[in-house]
Amino acid sequence: MKESDIVKAARLISQSKRICAFTGAGISAESGIPPFRGEGGLWNKYDPVILEIGYFITHPAESWEAVRTIFYDFFHQVKPNPAHDVLARWEASGILSAVITQNIDSLHTQAGSKKVYEFHGNSDRLVCIDCHKNFKSNTISLETLPPLCPVCYGILKPDFVFFGEGIPPAAYQHSTHVASDCDLMMIIGTSGEVAPANHIPHIAKRSGALIIEINREPSQYTGTITDLYLEGKAGELLPLIDELINSNYYT
Ligand code: OAD
Repeated sequence: MKESDIVKAARLISQSKRICAFTGAGISAESGIPPFRGEGGLWNKYDPVILEIGYFITHPAESWEAVRTIFYDFFHQVKPNPAHDVLARWEASGILSAVITQNIDSLHTQAGSKKVYEFHGNSDRLVCIDCHKNFKSNTISLETLPPLCPVCYGILKPDFVFFGEGIPPAAYQHSTHVASDCDLMMIIGTSGEVAPANHIPHIAKRSGALIIEINREPSQYTGTITDLYLEGKAGELLPLIDELINSNYYT
């Protein structure tokens, strides 16, 4: 990547009026959460079947064993990194209109972002697959698996989207609206492998938005819809762009 590409990104961001971000697991990698695919990816170690709804229903204890290790054992220890912080600051200063995220780790919200559309839901709550009541995950013991509903003793499932489940309707509607209304979309740390989330940047592109992408390696978007590709770590590149914007050093 050329240094001038970072300057170009800062210029394009400064010239745009409605910017949104579309983020994936890569933005949380520098907070210590492993991504799913690529180097050190979870799917090299676990079988993605554990996140299939059909498998969960028939093998709740096995599915929960992995889910607890991956998503619950250490999520409470992780903190937003400089990439989350920059996006939160950009929203506060009016540069960014919203974040659409595939992540379930709440780190955008923890960093201070307010308009966050969680396409795959969130790990903060568990839902009963029988009575559909939901509970804050930190109020339910995960020592014995699967955890059971305190009301009807049905099996509790993390209230995020498993493979084979629908997208939460409000998140879907807000995300498609924001994508079709933006004039610049920043795609950050996603492989673009998972549908229907991976359609969101295509909606932005079709509506005429410019696409800037940050990733450690080329994704489904690089060389297809991405206009400016910045290769590197989100937690390093976003602060650099932010610095240029703050110092007006991009003209
Ligand atoms: P992936 O793991 O598929 O992709 C993560 C991307 O982030 C890869 O392209 C990496 O190259 C890139 N990356 C890694 N570290 C980075 C860093 N420090 N800075 C920038 N980029 C970095 O994750 P997602 O695209 O989010 O679904 O995966 C989509 C969905 O697949 C997830 O939401 C999850 C999973 O199955 C559900 O749980 C339903």
